[in-house]
Amino acid sequence: MTVHRSRPEEPVTPASSAPASSAPEALRETLAELRRLAALPLEHGRTLPPLAYTSPELYGREVERIFRREWLCVARAEEIPQPGSYLRLDVLGTPLVVTRDEEGELHALSRVCRHRFMDLLPPETTPERGTLTRLTCPYHTWTYRLNGRYAGQLAGAPLMQRVDFDRAVCRLPAHRVEVWNGFVMLNLDPGAAPAAPALHGLDQRLSSHGIADWVSVHTQTWEDVPANWKVAVENGSENYHHMGTHAATLDPVLPGRDTEVDECDGRWFTMFTPLSDPEQGGTGLGKHSRSGRGAQAGMLIAGIFPQFVLAVLPDSAVSIRWLPTGPTTHDTQITAMVPPGAPDAPHFAERLSAIRAQVAQIQEEDLVAIRGVQRGLASHPDPSNGRFSHLERPLWQFQRYLAERLL
Ligand code: FES
Ligand SMILES: [Fe+2]
Repeated sequence: MTVHRSRPEEPVTPASSAPASSAPEALRETLAELRRLAALPLEHGRTLPPLAYTSPELYGREVERIFRREWLCVARAEEIPQPGSYLRLDVLGTPLVVTRDEEGELHALSRVCRHRFMDLLPPETTPERGTLTRLTCPYHTWTYRLNGRYAGQLAGAPLMQRVDFDRAVCRLPAHRVEVWNGFVMLNLDPGAAPAAPALHGLDQRLSSHGIADWVSVHTQTWEDVPANWKVAVENGSENYHHMGTHAATLDPVLPGRDTEVDECDGRWFTMFTPLSDPEQGGTGLGKHSRSGRGAQAGMLIAGIFPQFVLAVLPDSAVSIRWLPTGPTTHDTQITAMVPPGAPDAPHFAERLSAIRAQVAQIQEEDLVAIRGVQRGLASHPDPSNGRFSHLERPLWQFQRYLAERLL
């Protein structure tokens, strides 16, 4: 699997014309508007007020009420493939490491040493992923286990015998982790309900694709994209923009206007865009019997709020994960996958180059829109004409999701 990482960008500076109301008052007004919008039928739905995408106060509430409580998709399970594999992650400023222990079980452990809080896997000296048998702190070499119920427990701390220190109670905090369709889901809330039951309906819609067995072949990360996380999630939750943003690339192959958006509510949504020519997808999106509705071949989009979208094509799939890094910045990670066995086919190297080029090109196009929207929001425009098309139903659903958690 190839992994790419793009450099952080400059955040958009909010315009000096921001409304003059105090921060608590502005937050109250924004939440009141969210309450009003979430109660509207889709026919009257419209976009959130600009402050919802720029306010540090609202962002703080989103972190506490959404990101620290919800199941978040953070990786593919095959990125941590075998006993001893690890993946370094930073989730909302929380340094974590996902490990696979000797029994093959996954653990999401804090990466902060219990001694004097050193990062156990500093990016300056440690690869983002690899293998290890123990987690050894590079500062004073305190060493933690990876195995089973001892995961995170201190295995050794040199020169601590002369002081009163009980190493048996010293362990790295572990967070909840589940694997759903091959994706690693993480929850920072120890009391959260399990992830799988709430996604059962989505499982049924995805069941014919066998996504759990697909193989990741390419991952690319864009750090600190200068836009609020919701701008990116909303962009990834509608295909209306194919006709503008992707007019020369996706739209001729997957016309946004032909998208059928399913009637969903709650945490997840689905929609389907048929291929304009199922026999000959212009970007190599060839026909495959398992992706389609009835006789139609096309792209199935499945989204899970707050931060995950999966696009399944006949012979490839792309997952997008977003994580906020501040009120007006976020990270984006895109993973391309192919059905099992596809990497062994002849000429797969060329196919992989094409997939990598497509991921980069489509994301660069999306980034023009995402950055451009955030620049627009920074000028605090009047949102009263920001009406939704029927193709933007998932954005209307997203407001209802946000209202349920933030109000
Ligand atoms: S901070 Fe990790 S051993 Fe000292
Ligand atoms: Fe897009």
